[in-house]
Amino acid sequence: MRGYFGIGAERISKQMNVGSLFRTAHAFGAGFVFTVAASYAPDEGEVADTSRSTASVPLYDFETVRDLRLPVGCGLIGIEITEDAIELPSFRHPRCAAYVLGQERGSLSPEMVELCDYVVKIPTKFAVNLAIAGAIVMYDRLISTARFAARPLVPGGPREPLPPHVFGEPLWRVKQHAASAARAEKNDREER
Ligand SMILES: C[S@@+](CC[C@H](N)C(=O)[O-])C[C@H]1O[C@@H](n2cnc3c(N)ncnc32)[C@H](O)[C@@H]1O
Repeated sequence: MRGYFGIGAERISKQMNVGSLFRTAHAFGAGFVFTVAASYAPDEGEVADTSRSTASVPLYDFETVRDLRLPVGCGLIGIEITEDAIELPSFRHPRCAAYVLGQERGSLSPEMVELCDYVVKIPTKFAVNLAIAGAIVMYDRLISTARFAARPLVPGGPREPLPPHVFGEPLWRVKQHAASAARAEKNDREER
């Protein structure tokens, strides 16, 4: 799978929630985790984070939204229920992405929303726990970007195993084919 992702939370007050989010991020293969305007105390969060994720996944602690720094080319995606948010099942995840969640009794700050390239909502009847919301987003990223055997039309597991990956032609050759097809089409049109 190409690309990477990180996940973090803004202004979180319950260490258990951050611990749970980071543990799940570790399990889903996050490249980094972060907090904004709220520090994570691993000693407290490890009640939920039994994988001790921060010993394996880099943790960044940003004091304010203005201090937030992401790798070059990494998209920032706010996970929040807002009127204009894109519904998660219709969202195409960027190859390199950082997801940010809001606080337990509030939401993402307007400054954070402003900074986001996209805001995405999970179509639920009401807000779920932020660590659960993070888990759903990470799972959605996995199933929409990784290769799995196709789901059958009837209930049950796949009927056929995942076919082996076949590499396409190198990009320069694909472009060469496209250019010569365009030339041939132009010649055709001129001859007519
Ligand atoms: C428990 S919610 C905050 C409470 C919420 N403002 C309320 O209506 O009670 C904490 C965070 O989880 C995330 N969240 C929860 N449910 C969500 C959903 N259905 N779609 C997107 N984000 C969600 C958001 O990041 C939110 O800021």
